Amino acid sequence: MARIAVIGSINMDLVVETDKSPKKGETVLGNQFFTSHGGKGANQAVAVARLGGSVTMFGSLGNDQNGKSLKDNLVLESIETTYINMLDNVSSGVAVIEICEKDNRIIVIPGANQHTNIEYLSTVKEVLLNFDVIIMQMEIPIEALQFIIKFLSENKKVIILNPAPALPLPEDVLSQVTYITPNEHEYKIVLNTSHDIEASLRRYPNKLLITCGEKGVKYHNGSNVETIPSIKVDVVDTTGAGDTFTAAFGIAISEGRPLHEAIRFANIAAGLSITKIGAQQGMPTRKSVTKLLDS
Ligand code: RIB
Repeated sequence: MARIAVIGSINMDLVVETDKSPKKGETVLGNQFFTSHGGKGANQAVAVARLGGSVTMFGSLGNDQNGKSLKDNLVLESIETTYINMLDNVSSGVAVIEICEKDNRIIVIPGANQHTNIEYLSTVKEVLLNFDVIIMQMEIPIEALQFIIKFLSENKKVIILNPAPALPLPEDVLSQVTYITPNEHEYKIVLNTSHDIEASLRRYPNKLLITCGEKGVKYHNGSNVETIPSIKVDVVDTTGAGDTFTAAFGIAISEGRPLHEAIRFANIAAGLSITKIGAQQGMPTRKSVTKLLDS
């Protein structure tokens, strides 16, 4: 079985679900509140594990109550946690998530995730060479991300970057990653472009995958732009859909599936993930994805 590493954030999600989002200065009554395990990095690791992959998490947590619970959750999901940086006197990352009209708004307080820095990554970089595919997002310091992407690319590793939250990326980073998976809002910021989707895809064939929600996933196959349609589901909560897509894509690529098929596999997994509330709650098993893939 291929070995996958995820480098990234681990957060406790504080989720409110409401019919009405408050305007500036307004108070509204919501429907429910719950805490759940999240963070784009941890979510991607959980998605890989649920899909049957062998996955190791690299990131940082505080030695606080949230940190312990977040680590226990990763262990429960059969994720290798040996290299997680557990820090005293630092709070674990938290995300405040509002779910309204089946869409979300998220504010992340990085806390310990800020310590997934160059110093930490220098201590684990040789270990990372043991993995076939390395998945990352952008809730850790950008200079740390650039440092490790450069190192892994020099060592010919398959690197999948989910560029969220979006920031403009220099051209050398874009050339060093193997695949990049922004959504239809993020790609303009990340590529620093005003070009439309088709023109942007043409610049990065077989590398740039733009997820467009119910409109499917678009990429350029070297000859033309292709759209892989999304499955039809009853949407409950889209939080974590991008994480599930990137993780499932990573596992499919690690298994040697062709790009078109890997995107299809990932898009089915992402579609299933939005049928339950919470980032990790709806992440599917291999069996449920395969069932739809073969139908
Ligand atoms: O992608 C969803 C995730 O974004 C949440 O779990 C939250 O923690 C933020 O990182």
